[in-house]
Amino acid sequence: MLDKLIVEFDRGLRTLCAPAQSLRPHPDREVEEAQMDAAARRHALGLMRVNHCGEVCAQALYQGQALTARSAESREALRQAAQEEVEHLAWTERRIRELGGRTSLLNPLWYAGSLAIGVGAGALGDKWNLGFLEETEQQVGAHLDSHLRQLPAEDARSRAIVAQMRDDELKHADMAHELGAARLPAPVKMAMKLSAKLMTGASYRI
Ligand SMILES: [Fe+2]
Ligand SMILES: [Fe+2]
Repeated sequence: MLDKLIVEFDRGLRTLCAPAQSLRPHPDREVEEAQMDAAARRHALGLMRVNHCGEVCAQALYQGQALTARSAESREALRQAAQEEVEHLAWTERRIRELGGRTSLLNPLWYAGSLAIGVGAGALGDKWNLGFLEETEQQVGAHLDSHLRQLPAEDARSRAIVAQMRDDELKHADMAHELGAARLPAPVKMAMKLSAKLMTGASYRI
């Protein structure tokens, strides 16, 4: 257990402090940069900062869950999905820089909270762990769809990134479902939506 903790601690520090790497090419690689006015650029930046923060949380959730997952099959699936989340981190990070901004100052805070939630979900056993994962990914997918409606129409680069992320998240939800995810009670889903709202509201600005 101790060696596992050290590995995860190291991963956490890297999530928060080091630039993430992407194995797949960035989805916006062949998309031209748009001419945006200051207000549109600021809005795109705020939205992409929210999405970056969400990916930091995803790292922590997956790590917490992988620490406590019982079956080797679940652990492996969690690890694979977490690898794609690292790529999401890399894509949003670079896009934020291109838009001339910085990532959210609150990231360490959300990271710690999400890690605790991930460990908690994992401790409930694999079927609830996966249920939590499926619901999270579905909510994130819906959230990214809403960003595709809100992002400036001309910001094709951000849109390419968000669209690919949305597809990946829905794939993660299906994966969790196939591995035997339990259906979460409605109040839990509601609490998850509320905490996500808190996070997105804050990281848009700070
Ligand atoms: Fe993601
Ligand atoms: Fe995901």
